[in-house]
Amino acid sequence: MANIETLSNETRIFSPSAEFSKTAAISSMDAYHALCAEAATDEQGFWGRLARENLHWHKPFTQVLDESNAPFYKWFEDGQLNVSYNCLDVHLQNGNADKVALVFESDSGDVVKVTYQQLYEKVCKLANGLKSLGIQKGDRVVIYMPMSVEGVVAMQACARIGATHSVVFGGFSAKSLQERIIDAGAVAVLTADYQVRGSKHLPLKAIVDEALALGGCECIKNVIVYQRTGGEVKFAEGRDHWLHELVKEQAAECTPEWVGAEHPLFILYTSGSTGTPKGVQHSSGGYLLWAALTMKWTFDIKPTDVFWCTADIGWITGHTYIAYGPLAVGATQIIFEGIPTFPNAGRFWDMIARHKATIFYTAPTAIRSLIKAADADANIHPSKYDLSSLRLLGSVGEPINPEAWMWYHKNIGAERCPIVDTFWQTETGGHMISPLPGATPLVPGSCTLPMPGIAAVIVDEAGHDLPNGQGGLLVVKRPWPAMIRTIWNNPERYKNAYFPAEFGGKVYLAGDGSVRNKDTGYFTITGRIDDVLNVSGHRMGTMEIESALVANPMVAEAAVVGRPDDTTGEAICAFVVLKRSRPTGEEAKQIAKELRDWVAKEIGPIAKPKEIRFGDNLPKTRSGKIMRRLLRILAKGEEITQDISTLENPAILEQLKEAQ
Ligand code: PRX
Repeated sequence: MANIETLSNETRIFSPSAEFSKTAAISSMDAYHALCAEAATDEQGFWGRLARENLHWHKPFTQVLDESNAPFYKWFEDGQLNVSYNCLDVHLQNGNADKVALVFESDSGDVVKVTYQQLYEKVCKLANGLKSLGIQKGDRVVIYMPMSVEGVVAMQACARIGATHSVVFGGFSAKSLQERIIDAGAVAVLTADYQVRGSKHLPLKAIVDEALALGGCECIKNVIVYQRTGGEVKFAEGRDHWLHELVKEQAAECTPEWVGAEHPLFILYTSGSTGTPKGVQHSSGGYLLWAALTMKWTFDIKPTDVFWCTADIGWITGHTYIAYGPLAVGATQIIFEGIPTFPNAGRFWDMIARHKATIFYTAPTAIRSLIKAADADANIHPSKYDLSSLRLLGSVGEPINPEAWMWYHKNIGAERCPIVDTFWQTETGGHMISPLPGATPLVPGSCTLPMPGIAAVIVDEAGHDLPNGQGGLLVVKRPWPAMIRTIWNNPERYKNAYFPAEFGGKVYLAGDGSVRNKDTGYFTITGRIDDVLNVSGHRMGTMEIESALVANPMVAEAAVVGRPDDTTGEAICAFVVLKRSRPTGEEAKQIAKELRDWVAKEIGPIAKPKEIRFGDNLPKTRSGKIMRRLLRILAKGEEITQDISTLENPAILEQLKEAQ
């Protein structure tokens, strides 16, 4: 992949077409700059205006921002609203009851369309069902479900009754699920009997049973099961309920629970550089405002659009740009149960053609793997499909390398569709740095400029602003409505992780490095500055994987680093010392496989190391500190040219050079 130097010097520029700009929500750089100026000169007026214009408030707010207890910022605090009311009821009142909200396509290709009226009824019925089990405002509900209409309904039903959901990605293990249930103190789990992925059926309900049996989950009183396949499941009398039975007798209307704007809409666990995953807590009002507004600004959403975000609801992208944003603006969206390579790697292109998608939002990893597949098999090349419905493309989750950008631009966008490379994070709630498709000239590999109202800058280690051209730390100097509110159960960690005292305690530290182009000021993200890896757009802490490895009885010590990977962006490489002697040959292969499966069981298949290397020891300084810098070089397969005089045991490096 291209290095940072070439990226920030990329000179190809693609300006928006006059045709696109003509109807765009933000149609010129002048309009963009005007919004930025409004935010800079009258921050409260700016956000207050947008919150009034874009959301329905049951009780209007009188104060926009309260920063008296920074960095615990409060937005629109005395205002009251309901998120589900804003995503459903308002569209019924606006004459859009019969508009299609969700076009669901199953793994095997069955299509179900759900109108706003039908979605409203499903949400109300489940909301009433949850209430009938005694679940109420402020309770936490874990959702461990596949991509499905029911998954979106579950999230919206929680929002309707003011319960705080915590969605756990279906690929996480029983142990990861158990940890999240305990940390959130959840009262119920919503799950499915099975998750269908290609030819595999993953037993979600059985994994929930296993998680609850691990202990410590006495807080869970109810488990609600969506019947996806009808496959076998075990039921615990009194605790477990079929979703279809729970909702059967429920009324199709449910008065929304009006909540304060700061009421926690959801907690979403994500990896940090240290310790266990952090429960990122988001608000109701500020979060929804940004979800709706970025749909308008970044995606230029129009009533006639067919929007498709390929993320899973288990990630933040699936929260903001599936469960909330598209519904808040009354859009029609596609949701897809399956995987991009089943039945073949033309699936995405085929679906775009069949459903006439107009906006397509996916991750660079998916693009890169589909490029390879298209190169290998002309029958599934995008040129074989009618992609003429598309008008806008998006990218999210990891840096998109210029080669992949150009392929996406040519082969999917027909050199006609703008590409919005959206930089953001679980913590930011929505887009932070992104082109506005009707205004911003695009440069491959750059997420371009901050959204209006987002005070993103680059600073050095001491917190001083850096000039363009000089790489440093990405920070956001002012709060914004959709920002993380705290880490669930751990306000201290929130302060320390995101608002370091060295920078005055009020500046948000993103955890990414960045550099701005000398001439344009465009941002390029240079990757995490901490021990967080990004594999296929999935965020993982090296420490979590190391802890999982050393929990195996065979393992004495482990160190995990990332190395660049052509398809997945980064790949996990683990260096392991066993309690027994160092294995080689076939035996090493066998043990590596066992350890990879072990990590899958401990965390989830997404955390499996791509490569495991064994040594008699790890490279350490004389004081015993593992020299990860050297491990990163070894993982890349490069020669070590640095000074290794502080190394206790240089001979170890030879052993660790080779992949087993
Ligand atoms: O390193 C950045 C990378 O993904 C991280 C956030 O991961 P997560 O919280 O899982 O959210 C992913 C979906 C928003 C960031 O710290 N990242 C995200 N988008 C981009 C990116 N890196 C470069 N370019 C992007 N567009």
